[in-house]
Amino acid sequence: MLERLERVPVDPILGLMAAFRADADPHKVDLGVGVYRDAQGNTPVLDCVRHAERTVLAGQSSKTYVAAGGNAQFNQAMERLVFGPTHAQVSERLRTIQGVGGCGALRVGAELMRAASRDTVVYVSTPTWANHVPLLSGSGMRLERYPYYDPATGGIRFAEMLTALDALPAGTLVLLHASCHNPTGADLSEAQWRSLLEVVKRRRLTPFIDIAYQGLGTDPDADAFGIRLFAPEVPELLVAASCSKNFGLYRERTGALHILGESAQAADAALSQAVRIARTLYSMPPDHGAAIVATILADSTLSASWLGELGAMRARLAGLRQELVARLRAACPQRDFSFIGAQHGMFSFLGISVEEIRSLRARHHVYMTEDSRINIAGLRAANIDYFVRSVAEVLGARAA
Ligand code: LMR
Repeated sequence: MLERLERVPVDPILGLMAAFRADADPHKVDLGVGVYRDAQGNTPVLDCVRHAERTVLAGQSSKTYVAAGGNAQFNQAMERLVFGPTHAQVSERLRTIQGVGGCGALRVGAELMRAASRDTVVYVSTPTWANHVPLLSGSGMRLERYPYYDPATGGIRFAEMLTALDALPAGTLVLLHASCHNPTGADLSEAQWRSLLEVVKRRRLTPFIDIAYQGLGTDPDADAFGIRLFAPEVPELLVAASCSKNFGLYRERTGALHILGESAQAADAALSQAVRIARTLYSMPPDHGAAIVATILADSTLSASWLGELGAMRARLAGLRQELVARLRAACPQRDFSFIGAQHGMFSFLGISVEEIRSLRARHHVYMTEDSRINIAGLRAANIDYFVRSVAEVLGARAA
């Protein structure tokens, strides 16, 4: 049987990660996979995580199963973190299941909506994170796209986005990025979230909000603005939250699926379905990362330490954006890269061609995905000048 299978193309992001590791050039620059890196190029274990991990290990007396829905303290803490002050308003009809990372939460959410209706169609932004497409459409639902990024301005084609969404039938699932849009870095403003809410309510669309970078854009509250605006106003909402980036727990696969139903009964039924789906896909989520996050969020000292470390990551990203714009302006005066300074989070599109991207990789050992997405956190004092000179050379730019 297995010989019938054809080899599939390698994942665009994970394939790049492997190619970078295999490159022996000492100047190589990794702007591919979205992991945070510090000024030394390391992806550190946060201090608050190390502390919490010691507490978890010291207090753990058994490795028996937790539950198909995961760690209840973690689920409640994530609800408060994501929904903030609106939590009290919606908690009666809000339920949460721990996810196997944000990816697991996205997939269980998609399976849930497909169980609710075989005809569910999901709309994603153009472009969206590459893995959204197989994760959501793998549930069997049809996937379509709405306009989003405007390469001419580095902003959002908001009027076109609204027009497209305003034509959709009730019940259509609309995937939105809470903040730090992956791959473009172009986020909705508060005013745009408000206009979007009007369309969502009028058309009775079902928002599915992916929050994978809470705290890495503006701050943990502002990055959840859309979720907190929508939650009290819409009958149904799904939120997939990830702790990979903001807690640095990548390999621990820590996330949550929040399900807001029209009533407590509807939310209970949906949760029972989500638990069934989880049980049939992977039975139960891993515990370690969730136990760490629950420990941090239950302890005011550890929470303060987490907010400090998160703030430092965010400040480094924001500073790198400004530095990159200034250096590119000097090295490539013919091109306008200022939009990078106005965007948020880990990613931006450089806006260069596939040939230029391949040339950067072949000649300069600079790695980015073929849509020109760069991970800003991959830059540091030791490589930013080399990167900018490489871009300028590939673009044939003359310095100012
Ligand atoms: C990314 O977009 O690079 C990250 O979210 C890592 C991944 O799994 O793709």
